[in-house]
Amino acid sequence: MIALRPASLDDCAQVWAWRFAADVRAVSADARLVELDEHAAWYHARLLEPASPIWIVEDAGAGIGVVRVDQMADGSGMMSIALARAARGRGAGRGAIAASCQRWNKRVVAIIRADNTASQAAFEACGFRPAARTAPPFGGSQDLITYVWSPDGES
Ligand SMILES: CC(C)(COP(=O)(O)OP(=O)(O)OC[C@H]1O[C@@H](n2cnc3c(N)ncnc32)[C@H](O)[C@@H]1OP(=O)(O)O)[C@@H](O)C(=O)NCCC(=O)NCCS
Repeated sequence: MIALRPASLDDCAQVWAWRFAADVRAVSADARLVELDEHAAWYHARLLEPASPIWIVEDAGAGIGVVRVDQMADGSGMMSIALARAARGRGAGRGAIAASCQRWNKRVVAIIRADNTASQAAFEACGFRPAARTAPPFGGSQDLITYVWSPDGES
């Protein structure tokens, strides 16, 4: 049973561990590694921005990953997700993305590497549609695909 709860200060190190696991960075649009100290400073500030939520994904009450939505200038959001390796591949990602869309309930995009088929499948299963494809960012090797979701199905 997948549920979301708001992230708290106590989740700081665990969120860092999920987000900056080597296998997560390897498939992320932003491959940069961030040390725990730098993450902690960002995280503490970020929790004070209620318009841009961070949710802990729970399966039967245990934390298995994190979803974050950054509110953009036009009011829509940018969603990112990272699940613990052991939690992947059995529907939790799909459940967490669907629950996050329900909570956010506004237009939201996800920027996914062209080689990240698991992420593309999970977001597509939740109604996200590809809207644009852009060349790799500096230093990257993979195109980025922008997926879009909105409550009314329009992009
Ligand atoms: C991306 C991620 C959140 C997906 O969550 P998940 O729990 O693994 O995915 P699910 O089990 O919910 O599967 C959702 C869909 O993806 C498919 N899928 C799962 N793993 C897959 C894989 N390795 N390759 C291809 N498709 C895969 C499933 O078949 C399913 O498709 P369906 O609904 O058509 O049956 C998770 O794998 C993850 O955290 N990965 C590392 C970080 C990451 O890539 N984040 C996203 C960056 S934008």
